Amino acid sequence: MQAKSSSSLLTLFAFILLAWPNSSPIKIICEAISIKEATIQDLQTAFEQNQLTSRQLTEFYLNEIQKLNPLLKGLIEVNPDALYLADKADQEKKTKPHSSLPTLHGIPILLKDNIGTKDSLNTTTAGSFALVGSVVPRDAGVVMKLRKAGAIVLGKASLSEWANFRGLNAPDGWSARGGQGKNPYILSANPCGSSSGSAISVASNMVAVSLGTETDGSILCPCSFNAVVGIKPTVGLTSRAGVIPISPRQDTIGPICRTVSDAVHVLDAIVGFDSNDAQGTRIGSQYIPYGGYTQFLKVDGLEGKRLGIVRDPFFTFSDKLLEQTFQQHLQTLRQNGAILVDNLEIANIDAILNATLSGEAITLLAEFKISLNTYLKELVASPVRSLAEVIAFNQEFSDVEMIKEFGQEIFLASEATNGIEDLEKKAISSVENLTRNGFEKLMIENKLDALMSVGPSIAPVLAIGGFPGITVPAAYNSKKIPVGISFGGLKGSEPKLIEIAYGFEQATKIRKPPTFIP
Ligand SMILES: *[C@@H]1O[C@H](CO)[C@@H](O)[C@H](O)[C@H]1NC(C)=O
Ligand SMILES: *[C@@H]1O[C@H](CO)[C@@H](O)[C@H](O)[C@H]1NC(C)=O
Ligand SMILES: *[C@@H]1O[C@H](CO)[C@@H](O)[C@H](O)[C@H]1NC(C)=O
Repeated sequence: MQAKSSSSLLTLFAFILLAWPNSSPIKIICEAISIKEATIQDLQTAFEQNQLTSRQLTEFYLNEIQKLNPLLKGLIEVNPDALYLADKADQEKKTKPHSSLPTLHGIPILLKDNIGTKDSLNTTTAGSFALVGSVVPRDAGVVMKLRKAGAIVLGKASLSEWANFRGLNAPDGWSARGGQGKNPYILSANPCGSSSGSAISVASNMVAVSLGTETDGSILCPCSFNAVVGIKPTVGLTSRAGVIPISPRQDTIGPICRTVSDAVHVLDAIVGFDSNDAQGTRIGSQYIPYGGYTQFLKVDGLEGKRLGIVRDPFFTFSDKLLEQTFQQHLQTLRQNGAILVDNLEIANIDAILNATLSGEAITLLAEFKISLNTYLKELVASPVRSLAEVIAFNQEFSDVEMIKEFGQEIFLASEATNGIEDLEKKAISSVENLTRNGFEKLMIENKLDALMSVGPSIAPVLAIGGFPGITVPAAYNSKKIPVGISFGGLKGSEPKLIEIAYGFEQATKIRKPPTFIP
């Protein structure tokens, strides 16, 4: 069964599905728009029933990338070995029973271009030419786990350059290597960042699933704007080893997918201890439930959940249509058994949301320089070995890196720091106090399972404390731009957040494939 083109593959696939009308997983695919919106479970069923090979699936995505990526710029690089890896997966399928293969076996995945892979890709550059030619010592911790779970690395996703930590004026989704990533719903709309390419690419079906990273909002925001699901895990639940860092207190790696179920399957594959991020993952590992996370994909997951609402500033609306949609959602949440705890307040919220006031900016600037310099020194080879050399590279190649337009103020401010001194210690203590007296107190006193927000607006609250969050497609505003709903919880509360997110998704099913409106 050779796929000559994506459309012939689609036709073939649809034909086979129609020929098997009585099997329920197949019915699910039939009801979906096409293979384009297929979930991991749909694809595994098709693999198991010999209706699809990993090579066909990978060829399908490569075709879609060829068609769509010149416009959307969701990918920076395609893995030259992707088809070879797909063939290898197909060989394994022939020799082993399907039930013995791991969940992501033969499934193509896209990685944000700050996640290292030791393979034929230029790894890993954060979208900057400064790091082209750098050689990583090994796969990132999460990539090792993905390969063990059978996933095929399809390529590297574009991003806001340096995960949005370079200059103050760089547009979301722009990098020197990737160009300007586009929102596939409304091409002129913001794709948000910094994991823009991961969200754009799964939203537009250029890949099955993807990974992003978040320091403050970088998973939740692009997912919200591109109508996809993002999980920002508790800091330490997923290894940061081999990922271009910003801050060990805030960085986390998480799935970006079209459905909650897909995101949870990817989460299951990437969590856990990694000796190369021992300090972080030793603490994070204690949160992993026995039996993994898929057991929390419960249709009645909203039953009995206490959901907090802080109206100002997390539940306000600029748009009548958006307000109406979310009013309906509140009703749906209640109808499905959730208890809404409304009109709450978080102490010192103005300070928490102002990175200068909270101390977050001071801590990140110092931590970035320390962490990046360590990362660059550990590379096997690299054209740059320190933040100072990256800054010098940007100045030398100011035209390609658009320094005059987008600046590198954050780099310069970071370079001016000198480790964790009194100022930074005070800032860390301030951030901890704000979290303890703010979000933690609110959650504990009101016995909340999650705090909700329209779009990604709770992201900074979660970021400074290392808390987890999930965003699910929830609405399209009057300009047809997607808006998600975000649920944030205390450390290790992923099981509850997954129940809530899955319950909400199954009750609403808001996601529609993109429209590519200019
Ligand atoms: C790696 O980067 C170089 C220089 O930009 C480029 O020529 C090459 O195609 C890249 N490799 C891949 C796999 O895209
Ligand atoms: C954040 O706080 C700083 C320092 O107090 C202040 O100068 C700045 O105007 C504040 N920013 C916002 C957006 O309120
Ligand atoms: C944090 O709170 C403690 C007491 O809870 C206090 O001693 C300390 O000064 C506070 N730090 C900052 C920076 O506000």
